[in-house]
Amino acid sequence: MTVDETFADMQAVLGHLVPEFELRAKAGLAVEINQLKAEHNAVILGHNYMEPTLFHSVPDFKGDSLELSRKAAETDKDVIVFCGVRFMAETAKILSPEKTVLLPAKVAGCSLAASITADDVRQLKARYPGVPVVTYINTYADVKAETDICCTSSNARAVVESLNTDSIIFLPDEFLAKNVARETGKHIIFPTKTPKTDDEIEYELIGWHGRCEVHEKFTVEDIDNARRQFPDVLVLAHPECPPDVVEASDYSGSTTAMVNYVQDHDSPRFLILTECSMADNILAENPGKELLRMCSIRCPHMNEITMEETRDSLKYTQYVIDVPEDIRVRARASVDRMLAIGAPVASAD
Ligand code: 13P
Ligand code: SF4
Repeated sequence: MTVDETFADMQAVLGHLVPEFELRAKAGLAVEINQLKAEHNAVILGHNYMEPTLFHSVPDFKGDSLELSRKAAETDKDVIVFCGVRFMAETAKILSPEKTVLLPAKVAGCSLAASITADDVRQLKARYPGVPVVTYINTYADVKAETDICCTSSNARAVVESLNTDSIIFLPDEFLAKNVARETGKHIIFPTKTPKTDDEIEYELIGWHGRCEVHEKFTVEDIDNARRQFPDVLVLAHPECPPDVVEASDYSGSTTAMVNYVQDHDSPRFLILTECSMADNILAENPGKELLRMCSIRCPHMNEITMEETRDSLKYTQYVIDVPEDIRVRARASVDRMLAIGAPVASAD
């Protein structure tokens, strides 16, 4: 496609959100990226949090962590460019070791992935021998390697329920664990370094104090303020939000589940409690709807991925993601167990 054709396509979707001069510049970049993609026999995966001009021009597949993991496992291309954060690109490498996996930014971390080490998991397993470990996909490969089964925000409940056991170690997101505990009616404890307490003898979910630095900032007051001003607003919260926020919301689900919820509901107004770019991406496809969001709260890691960095990742084959083979094989077992649990329902009332 020419720059003019690409610009026309982008303007049709983003014209009401992005100034024309920016769209023209981004259309030129999109053409360059798409040419490089064809030359390198690459596929681009784009997480729902990517900024709107990137999100609506270059990814072959878009979605939440679970959907993109499935796409990474299925692709027959030589190169996977992951427009997301490092743990997501690592998951792609775990599933497709024969491919070159590129992350367009050198770091692009995640506060949840940084909150726990493989040694922490080994210590927990020693403290609770025989108790299965469920690990959120927002972790690095060496942590996944110590895990029995992974989960994402869209299947956490299904994974926990699939285990059919009294006690589960659920790592590392404190709030996701509390939200799953509430949904499944399970008691939750957080271990201390001192000897086990009576409480721990009767535990059901054993959590960890990791938090998403974005979602932990949303409060019930934010919801109350929105409802006071707009009594008809529907409130959507990601399950990484604090439990009182999730309880005060009308719906909680993965990023794609939230996208689907807005599409499926006629309400004129939604408050989206998640990374701000996603609201723009929803608005692009739902121009008739009004989305309230709090753009002072952004994920600095997701925002490291730009169109310039994406072009350079293909141009200079950077930054190559590698996972040591012994870790990869063990991590793959926990990701495969998760993928074997069928696709979750992406939107619900
Ligand atoms: P999803 O799997 O819901 O897309 O979440 C990824 C994430 O990092 C949310 O902060
Ligand atoms: Fe990690 Fe939170 Fe950013 Fe998602 S939004 S990548 S959980 S820091």
